[in-house]
Formats: sequence, C-alpha cells, structure tokens
Amino acid sequence: MPEDTKKVDMEKIVSLCKRRGFVFQSSEIYGGLASCWDYGPLGVELKRNIKNFWWKKVVQERDDMVGIDASIMMHPKVWEASGHVAGFSDPLVECKNCRMRFRSTDIDTTACPNCGGQLSEPRMFNLMFKTFMGPVEEEAAIVYLRPETAQAQFVNFENVQSTTRKKLPFGIAQIGKSFRNEITTGNFIFRTREFEQMEIEYFVKPGTDQQWFDYWVNERLNYYVSLGIKRDNLRLREHCKEELAHYARGCFDVDYNFPIGWSEIEGIANRGDYDLTQHSKFSGKTLDYFDEEKSERYVPYVIEPSSGVDRSLLAVLCDAYDEEPADKETRVVLHIKPEIAPIKVAVLPLSRNAKLLPKSKEVHDMLRPHFMTQYDDAQSIGRRYRRQDEIGTPFCVTVDFDSLDDNQVTIRERDSMQQERVPVAELLDRLKSKFSF
Ligand code: GLY
Repeated sequence: MPEDTKKVDMEKIVSLCKRRGFVFQSSEIYGGLASCWDYGPLGVELKRNIKNFWWKKVVQERDDMVGIDASIMMHPKVWEASGHVAGFSDPLVECKNCRMRFRSTDIDTTACPNCGGQLSEPRMFNLMFKTFMGPVEEEAAIVYLRPETAQAQFVNFENVQSTTRKKLPFGIAQIGKSFRNEITTGNFIFRTREFEQMEIEYFVKPGTDQQWFDYWVNERLNYYVSLGIKRDNLRLREHCKEELAHYARGCFDVDYNFPIGWSEIEGIANRGDYDLTQHSKFSGKTLDYFDEEKSERYVPYVIEPSSGVDRSLLAVLCDAYDEEPADKETRVVLHIKPEIAPIKVAVLPLSRNAKLLPKSKEVHDMLRPHFMTQYDDAQSIGRRYRRQDEIGTPFCVTVDFDSLDDNQVTIRERDSMQQERVPVAELLDRLKSKFSF
C-alpha cells in the first residue's frame, strides 16, 4: 500500500458512496432531508465492521470492560442532572431578513453571510431534540432524544457494578445513536443531527485519573492505526480551557486529516466525579464504590473515550481512497484493512459460459458461510476486478476453464494485484489465513 498521504476531495468520496451504495441522501426522492444520510448495502457492512472492530478491541479482548445497550429516551431528570438542560447550548444568531441561523462562533461578521442582512443578538440555543411521550400531546411528558450515550453508563453504574462484581478500574462500553439539533451541519456524514457514537465510560479511583487519562489517550490513538488509518493522518489535540465541555477537567481530541482539514473523530475527556455526583444528588441514590481491599468508599472518577462511528467510517474511506495507474488506465481502489472491508471475497467466473457455473457456485457456496461475499459474472473480468477494487474487496477468486480440470482457482489480491493458484480444497484455509480474526 502506498505510504504517501495524498488528500482526496470530499466530492470524490461522496460520489463513490452514492455510485456504489455506501451512503445515500435520506429521503432523496422527496428532495432529501438536510444533514440526514442513509447507509446503503456496502455502507451498512462497513459501518457494522467498524463497530464490531471497536467492540472486539475494547470489550471482547479486555478483562476490565463490559457493554450495555440502553434506551435512547431516558427520564427527563437525567438531562437536568447531567447539565444538558442548562448548559448544552450554542450561541445562535438569526438573520432578520432571510431568517437563516448561524452559530455566532462560526462567523466573524455582523452581516448575514447568506444575504448581507442584519443579524439578531446572540441567544443560547439548546441542542437537545425534544419529543412527547404518551398518546395525548398536551398531557404527555416532554422527553429528550439523548445527545450522548454516556449518561446511560452513569445511571446504570450501580446495576452493572453489582451484577458483574467488577472491581475498579473498569469500564462500560456502548454503541448507539445520539441526536443534536446542530445549528450548522454539513460536510457529508461529518456533522449530522442524528449520529452514532461508540463510548466508553471508564471508572477509576480518584487520584489515578491522570494516569488513566494518559493511558486512554495513547490507547485510542493506537486504535485508529490498528483500524488501518495512516499514522501521519492522525494527531492529538489538547482542548484549551475555554473549549472544555461543562463536565470536563481535561480533553484531548484524536483528529483525522479529512479533506476539510484536521477534525475530530474522537474526544477523550476526564469527567472527574461530575456525573455520578450529579446523578446521586438528583436521584437521591448513592452512586459510589466500596473498595474492599482498602475498606474505603468513594465516588469514582471517569475517563471517557468517545468515538464517532460516522466520522470513523468517513476517515476510513478518505484514508483508503487511491487512484493508481494500472494497465494504461487509472484504477480507483480502496485500500481498506481486509478485516473491515464490506465485502471480503468476490467470486468471479471468468465468463458467463454455462460450463463454469456449477464450479463457481460450488466455490461461492463454500465461502459464503465464512465471509461476506459477492458473486459477479457481468462484463469482462478486468472490469469486475476494478469494480471490486473500488469497493475495497481484498480478494477475488476467479474460476476459469482450467479449474474444471485441475480443481484449482486463482486468488487475486487487491493491493498488489498478484495472483496465486490454489486447489479448491485449500481455498478456505488459505483465505482465512489472510485475515487476522
Ligand atoms: N459523551 C461525550 C460526547 O458525546 O461528546
């Protein structure tokens, strides 16, 4: 894989995503819904693979982590306690002429960037979506769509700790949708009002928080390298005091060098004992930890590595995209880490000749319980290799006329385009050996 870090245009990624079925605009036949996107057949595979990779790394392969999957709607008091009702707002200005709204920190002019009209004074705009729970709107309780998954880990701290008997330090991980009524959205799936998070709340003894904060910052940077992202396209950025969220004592972002510039894919925050203390105060329940060894009781501190699924997926696509000379033309190729690729193996009969069909089907049927596969017999074999390159399929298996006599097939590798001939009886093991799971 080439090690250079050429930047791709966002338009090329958006176009590839639509053309090949990674991401479509939401409700497109009705003109689309601003900032909402649908993952198509390849996008859903890639997204699922990224989430599974994260879960494997942070839950399955660790002794100190367990998972939950909580409800999106939570008791309204949760958001009072968490500080989101009072503090989760952005300063908004509105154009008195065209009514467009802007985050006042995004613009450095007193005139509307859209029409030049006069802007209102800034007012604070809460970013939480509200809805009504219950059949009669007037009598129903107002509930919020969660703006972060994290609060479910905090309110379930006692449930999880007592049922798993985990000792500190330990973490609770969760993947799920969150919602923020952002004033300014854009840049494809980078900033949307509905998005998916992969969040860890890692509970530690007070006084050890700095050490665990440093550990997680380093761990999470390395995670993105293991996801296949080039180290040169990643950086750590510390938040200055003014930037810190209302709950944070310190925060580092893992930034990726997107086509739009360096931007956050993950934030790692030291939330101290803010959340557990607040929930204890608002619920009247004790949310602390009894340290049996030391015979002491305390409220744990929390280190929070919070990753964006959609941003991770966008970073994987941007990082993997390449245009390379091949056979006097340019091939578009996604050098996605094989374990993450939406399709792992494509089975390609050399042609649509009926004689090749039974052997090709036999090979495909043998592989599909083990890998996400595609069977493609349309157009020339060269065109089909290109199609698979463009969606990042790491291996193509070609069945040709010799296969009918020698019972061997060809494995063609995406990055090197090298081909090797293998007996069908060894194909499954040979392919499995190329993946690290
Ligand atoms: N839980 C941190 C965040 O959503 O940014």
